[in-house]
Amino acid sequence: MRIGTLSGSLASDSINSALLGAIGHLVGERAELVPVPIDALPLYGRDADAGHPASALAFRELVRGLDGLMIATPEYNRAIPAALKNALEWGSRPAGENVFAGLPVGIVGASPGAIGTALAQQQLRSGLAFLDAPTLGQPEVTLQWRAEMLDAEGRISNAGTRAFLGGWADRFLAHVAMHAAARAAASGKAAAAEVAA
Ligand SMILES: Cc1cc2nc3c(=O)[nH]c(=O)nc-3n(C[C@H](O)[C@H](O)[C@H](O)COP(=O)(O)O)c2cc1C
Repeated sequence: MRIGTLSGSLASDSINSALLGAIGHLVGERAELVPVPIDALPLYGRDADAGHPASALAFRELVRGLDGLMIATPEYNRAIPAALKNALEWGSRPAGENVFAGLPVGIVGASPGAIGTALAQQQLRSGLAFLDAPTLGQPEVTLQWRAEMLDAEGRISNAGTRAFLGGWADRFLAHVAMHAAARAAASGKAAAAEVAA
């Protein structure tokens, strides 16, 4: 399974990028993890639909080649960061060429604040629903971040948190596998119908 890891933060010391790294340790060899950078994307404007820049074409190609996508979103002003929203725009256009359609997504997020990105995640979930990307509903990962959560190797140091995030990773991989099987069955049926026609 090829799983993209997309951090909604552009910060070099991002806690959300660190969270993705820690979950990556828990996924281990069960999937190929592919970083999906969004920092080279220019600000989306509708005029670009006449011809996307190379950075957007590369982003869209990368997402198209995935079986699933993990997104760690920060919460900025009770919403998703502009950089992440911008990436959704690039992936969704031109109209009818939305690369997120059918792509299973897992959302996580971390903040020093008590609600741990819950509002940003809700907003992201709503945008992805419109883009026809099936998101894992439960468990929600809304982490109130503390620096001591990670050890020197970027692994989760607390056993309870590690078990919780490990359980999330198990559920997310099952979510991706379920959708991959459904897509394979649908394309098998389409191929059979083509042969029969
Ligand atoms: C512009 C801005 C707005 C923020 N707004 C919120 C917010 O609405 N809720 C929240 O919990 N934290 C908020 N924070 C604090 C972030 O949660 C914190 O900076 C966190 O480290 C961002 O994630 P990152 O390190 O992955 O970039 C905000 C930070 C910035 C820079």
